[in-house]
Amino acid sequence: MIQPVCWTDGTLELLDQTLLPVSEKWLQLTTWEEVAEAIRRLAVRGAPAIGIAAGYALVLAVWGVDERKEADSAFSEASHGLAAARPTAVNLFWALKRLEGVWRDYAEESVDAARGALLIEARRIHAEDVEGNKTIGRHGAELLPTGSSVLTICNTGGLATGGYGTALGVVRSAWAEGKLNRAFLCETRPLLQGSRLNAWELLQEGIPFRVLVDGAAGALLSRGEVKAVLVGADRIAANGDTANKIGTYSLGCLADRHGVPLYVVAPLSTVDRDTPTGQEIPIEERGYEEILAPLGRQAAPEGSEAWNPAFDVTPAELIAAIVTERGVLRPPYEQAIAAAMA
Ligand code: MRU
Repeated sequence: MIQPVCWTDGTLELLDQTLLPVSEKWLQLTTWEEVAEAIRRLAVRGAPAIGIAAGYALVLAVWGVDERKEADSAFSEASHGLAAARPTAVNLFWALKRLEGVWRDYAEESVDAARGALLIEARRIHAEDVEGNKTIGRHGAELLPTGSSVLTICNTGGLATGGYGTALGVVRSAWAEGKLNRAFLCETRPLLQGSRLNAWELLQEGIPFRVLVDGAAGALLSRGEVKAVLVGADRIAANGDTANKIGTYSLGCLADRHGVPLYVVAPLSTVDRDTPTGQEIPIEERGYEEILAPLGRQAAPEGSEAWNPAFDVTPAELIAAIVTERGVLRPPYEQAIAAAMA
């Protein structure tokens, strides 16, 4: 199973996703600042993987610091610094909050004991994600008729999570159960997480797929071959509105037009009940160069400007179901989410 984040005794190893599929290079990170930078530049990416990496980064922040005051200030500086790395994926803030709770609980204990408890919690977040994904995969596969082809966007596999994956986890489970015909992968401009990363994962497992340009999704859906659109999530608001990779909203409109269900596949750690609707979800805007010079090659005249939102919001009414580790949630989502999280 692909695991992009590995902890070994004071070092966080991350598979650098910016270099895939051309080269497989593992980063060895020993400071929280290095992890924050890896998150910012998408060496580690995908909402659950970002949360997991941030958890370990807080352990690194107090690694080798034994004086309580010094450790407290290192912890809080790291927590603020990590929270500023990327704004949309709520798993980042969720993981930081969990570790902040542990740090508070150990305020009267030795720093050594507190650090040990932090590491246990960071590992727990990691392990829960992998377990949750497998359950999600099973729930999602049940929704698909045998012989289905599905359409996906971005990378939602082992690379984007603790391992296994969310939407791509459903693809894995459906394939294992003999239900999948093939997966169609939107290449996912501008950073090509679909063609670079999803394809890299599926090739290794011999799961049949085809890559298409994002603009071909409508033509594909109009042919009737695709039985479901499977997407991940970076943040699900209390009413079910979902922020995910830019282009997901377009898929939602197209799926609706062609009567194909769009399923959001995500762990409950991606649900943010403090954000009432999609309108309040902060959407990250990234640099022009990602669009104007993809893969480092100039693709627009010098001096061009661009608009580069990394995510969009798909309104709840375009989402047929939200597949979680606690089952398949159906509208109205406000109530279904509240019940799943109770
Ligand atoms: O900018 P990215 O690559 O971090 O965006 C990732 C996505 O949008 C994924 O679909 C989402 O995080 C879910 S990953 C299981």
